[in-house]
Amino acid sequence: MKKILITGGAGYIGSHTAVELVNAGFEPIILDNFSNSEKSTLSGLEEILGREIICYEEDCNDREAVEKVFKQNQISGVIHFAAYKAVGESTQLPLNYYKNNIDSLLVILECMSKYGVKDLVFSSSCTVYGQPDVLPVTESTPRKDAESPYGNTKKICEDILSDYVKSKASVRIISLRYFNPVGAHPSSALGELPLGTPNNLVPFITQTAVGIREKLTVFGDDYDTEDGSCVRDYIHVMDLADAHVKSLEYLSKQEDHFYDIFNVGTGRGNTVLEVVQTFERVSGKSLNYTIGPRRPGDVVKVWADTSKINNVLGWKAQYSLEDSLRDSWNWQLKLGAVV
Ligand code: UD1
Repeated sequence: MKKILITGGAGYIGSHTAVELVNAGFEPIILDNFSNSEKSTLSGLEEILGREIICYEEDCNDREAVEKVFKQNQISGVIHFAAYKAVGESTQLPLNYYKNNIDSLLVILECMSKYGVKDLVFSSSCTVYGQPDVLPVTESTPRKDAESPYGNTKKICEDILSDYVKSKASVRIISLRYFNPVGAHPSSALGELPLGTPNNLVPFITQTAVGIREKLTVFGDDYDTEDGSCVRDYIHVMDLADAHVKSLEYLSKQEDHFYDIFNVGTGRGNTVLEVVQTFERVSGKSLNYTIGPRRPGDVVKVWADTSKINNVLGWKAQYSLEDSLRDSWNWQLKLGAVV
């Protein structure tokens, strides 16, 4: 069985990807420092898979520790999720973000080179498009200046990867630009575990509905959109997980020096108020919310053109927004009203 190292594999997207890797016949090996994830995720994985997944509790920036994992396992490919991802925090702690997100990628690339591992899937983000001039965005839509150090780390990492491939390094790499990941494993054994007050919309909604938060503030209803609230492309985390599996399978068929980029979204945009209404419908709960001021730095609207990933990787989102919000809600019900 091909062993795939997943850095940040105990995190939200990483853990769901571990499930889909096993389902596709790969053997995931998790490396995670648990700085933004919980040990309970490993139990959730075990519950779904019926067995343990190997996990190294190590930091991706620790070159010796990462090398040990490569030395002890015959790794065939890497999915590099591990990174800091809080936009607001990155404006306060930019050096932490640049150091953590960029150094860890360099450590991974150096170890891959030393141990002859060719295939890498990198977690990028639609944040690299900023506020696009034309919608939906394709992979060739020009990237904009990043709004935050977090966003800039994603741009820089993409550039590192493309320069590295241009140097004729013996690698095959895909960057996946995620739109807005939501939902949870349909069994409710895995889901998102935000630390403290959630920054993201859907965990804030489910925590409000379950009584942890008093009310949701919708950040602005006076934008130039259908109902005045911002538009995003919400993609179910299981669909996103599957895109990683499809990427690895595709990479294994490519020649060396390969680099490509794919959007991973549904191809549909939904407003914040549509998300709230859909949540109310699937959960049967009415949500306490208020309209507040715009959030500084928010993109007004962005959604993906998914033709490239549909045609080249044969991947298409299967879950609807209803499915996503139902699974997020069931996960929250399982967690209960505890933070
Ligand atoms: C942004 C980035 C994304 C990045 C993510 C990391 C863009 C387009 N997206 O996501 O690439 O990975 O940060 O966290 O740059 N909202 C409310 N009330 C809330 C919370 C959110 O109204 O309490 C609204 C926001 O204004 C936004 C939408 O919900 O319109 C989604 O917000 P959020 O979940 O924070 O994601 P993005 O900002 O899109």
